Amino acid sequence: MSFSHKSVLLAEAVDFLKAAGSSGVFVDATLGLGGHSGEILRRLAPQGRLIGLDCDDRNLREAAEKLKGYGNFRAIKANFRDLDAVLQNEGIEKIDGILYDLGVSSAHFDDAARGFSFSKEAPLDMRLDPGAALTAYDVVNSYKRPDLERVIRDYGEEYKYKKIADFIINRRPIETTSKLAEITALAKRGMKEKIDPATRVFQAIRIEVNDELGALKESLEKAVGMLQSGGVIAVISFHSLEDRIVKKYFALEASDCVCENKRMPCTCGHVKRINLLTKKALIPGDAETAENPRARSAKLRAAVKI
Ligand SMILES: C[S@@+](CC[C@H](N)C(=O)[O-])C[C@H]1O[C@@H](n2cnc3c(N)ncnc32)[C@H](O)[C@@H]1O
Repeated sequence: MSFSHKSVLLAEAVDFLKAAGSSGVFVDATLGLGGHSGEILRRLAPQGRLIGLDCDDRNLREAAEKLKGYGNFRAIKANFRDLDAVLQNEGIEKIDGILYDLGVSSAHFDDAARGFSFSKEAPLDMRLDPGAALTAYDVVNSYKRPDLERVIRDYGEEYKYKKIADFIINRRPIETTSKLAEITALAKRGMKEKIDPATRVFQAIRIEVNDELGALKESLEKAVGMLQSGGVIAVISFHSLEDRIVKKYFALEASDCVCENKRMPCTCGHVKRINLLTKKALIPGDAETAENPRARSAKLRAAVKI
């Protein structure tokens, strides 16, 4: 079965990378179904080299098949948190541009068996890397109350986190996505919300299963360290937790001084490493969001290495 995915902020993201030139080494840290990579190869790196990473075997395979005509492209199964080790393995020490298009692809939601969608019956899985140890089943059925509450509160930004955790714990074992969605709806009965009651809980568990925020923090730091002078980093995020990490990290690396007491002389020794290319995050226009509802929450931030 083959799946599809509409790339978000495609031209805008590649335009930012273009500022780094066209003959260097570029990395697509979230290859997905190869939408952004295809555009990078067509417009940006005809003489350069592109490495695409993904921790999901099936997406990686589909993208590799789609882009097999490009001799300067290589798809590697890896978590982007291991960016430095993966690139060193390829003999690459410095890069000219890197793109992150975070989260899951439409293919993950469309493939019921992966357990990402609360509207499709499946075992509780939600692993981006099918070989990873932790599954959604483990989080839902074996996390202690304080941990389950923390996940739902911090990663779902769900203020009914205590009641939902309580309902889950009292109804264990919970085997399937539909059962979890039903229990969440029961815990939130009577509440009026625009989104499905299960949305935030499923987001929270997915983030925990894949340690999405931890991987992002680690990888951004490695990426900025590996960029050449003039190299560009661009990140597309899909929810405020991701965007906050990117915004805060870019602000830190773009500061001359991080002294707590801002009175001179500066004593922190912090060295500014990047200039922001986006003072405010770029968001998709009306035409894109009308055509692709998934783009509605997208934000693109970019920066150039000094
Ligand atoms: C939104 S999709 C990317 C879509 C792609 N830009 C395109 O246009 O086809 C995100 C992809 O990143 C992968 N991914 C998410 N977190 C990852 C991580 N920490 N390491 C490697 N790949 C990751 C997912 O498996 C998914 O295929």
